[in-house]
Amino acid sequence: MTLEPQMSVDVSPAETIPDHVPPELVVDFDFMRDPRLREDVHDGLRKLQAEAPPLFYTPRNGGHWIAIGREMLFNVSRDYEVFSNAPQTEDRAKLPRRIPITYDPPEHGAYRHVLMHAFAPKVVAAMEQKIRALAIQLIEDMAPDGHCDFVPAVAEPLPVKIFMEILGLPMERFAEFRVWVQQATGSYAPSERIGVLENVMEMTAPLVRARQETRQDDLMSRIIDADLDGRKPTFEEVQAFNLMLFIAGLDTVVNAMSFGVRHLARDPELQARLRAEPALIPKAMEELLRRYSIANPSRQVSRDTVYEGVELKKGELVMLATPAANLDPAAFDEPERIDLDRTEPHLAFGVGPHRCVGSHLARLELRILYEEMLARLPPFRADPDRRERVRPAVVFAVESLPLTWA
Ligand code: HEM
Repeated sequence: MTLEPQMSVDVSPAETIPDHVPPELVVDFDFMRDPRLREDVHDGLRKLQAEAPPLFYTPRNGGHWIAIGREMLFNVSRDYEVFSNAPQTEDRAKLPRRIPITYDPPEHGAYRHVLMHAFAPKVVAAMEQKIRALAIQLIEDMAPDGHCDFVPAVAEPLPVKIFMEILGLPMERFAEFRVWVQQATGSYAPSERIGVLENVMEMTAPLVRARQETRQDDLMSRIIDADLDGRKPTFEEVQAFNLMLFIAGLDTVVNAMSFGVRHLARDPELQARLRAEPALIPKAMEELLRRYSIANPSRQVSRDTVYEGVELKKGELVMLATPAANLDPAAFDEPERIDLDRTEPHLAFGVGPHRCVGSHLARLELRILYEEMLARLPPFRADPDRRERVRPAVVFAVESLPLTWA
């Protein structure tokens, strides 16, 4: 079966739809460039929900499944025997492995344990002072100007510099690394991603070797000495940890923070309420994480199977659209509304064996940013003279967010 072209030319070409996929499960949707996402990525997903079932097949970007229903995404994420994080096809197997995310349980457990320890709530809580000091400095630096582009002024330097220091990356290469990480999360095909992943590994190789000689006070050194069920990681494993951390640590919080501040800039009532009652900030932070989730990880089907009535073949890709699941009206009443009394747990950090290891750090950074920004800036809003730029991608990105204040 082939689809009639309905989109403008810059979407990816449509692949032939496999015979086992019934027409009622096919929706023509290009996750990276779909016209529905152009106005606003999250509103675009709401439009998609109106026309697509909880798990559907799109012929774009090589042809793949997308889970957009909250319950579907929850169940798929936990069923690691059918929906594997390990490569199931040759093209995926060519990509350098990332630890722990490209391993399934039980192998995954020992790897994950190393990072769970490194980003445990207590370890992260000890970073609060340093994170707050940097947040205050960045906000105070721009406050007198009356305007800023929030992304380069705060959202990039705050979490990325903190993370580069944690891992032990050379700070002078900050700008270059930001470009790399955007290239990695802005592409879906393995052939488009491999080059940048290899760049990262080439960059970290001498850093690991230097630390094998002389340990530093950083996470890279601690990973070299980590305990993997009674043995030390190999050089390749340390590199695979580094690759994972580079991709996870240099982009996610930047975007979560930018979407959150973009909402605040459009919602003066919420700003006023949080300024009057800062104790509500943690609740608002959770709602902003839900309302504007960013991560769209993938699984590969490990064997031919029928899952909840849907026929799937080994090797097929299933994208887990957490931003859509967190806007599913079947799970969240009036999903667009920021409701500080909402109690349903969101899936912004994923669910199941791969649930985000960095969530405590991300939450701390987000809370501090909102606290300091609301305390130190007067009411801020989107700058009417300059355009914001938002990009659909594996991790939804805000590229530019011009703000202004009196
Ligand atoms: C707001 C910011 C963040 C969001 C929304 C986020 C989201 C996610 C999601 C959805 C997953 C699950 C992926 C999957 O199921 O395949 C994940 C996994 C992961 N995240 Fe985050 N993340 C954030 C920040 C961070 C940070 C700062 C770190 C740095 C340590 C981090 C490290 C990881 C790691 C290591 C995994 C893989 C865990 C595993 O495979 O067991 N994340 N993240």
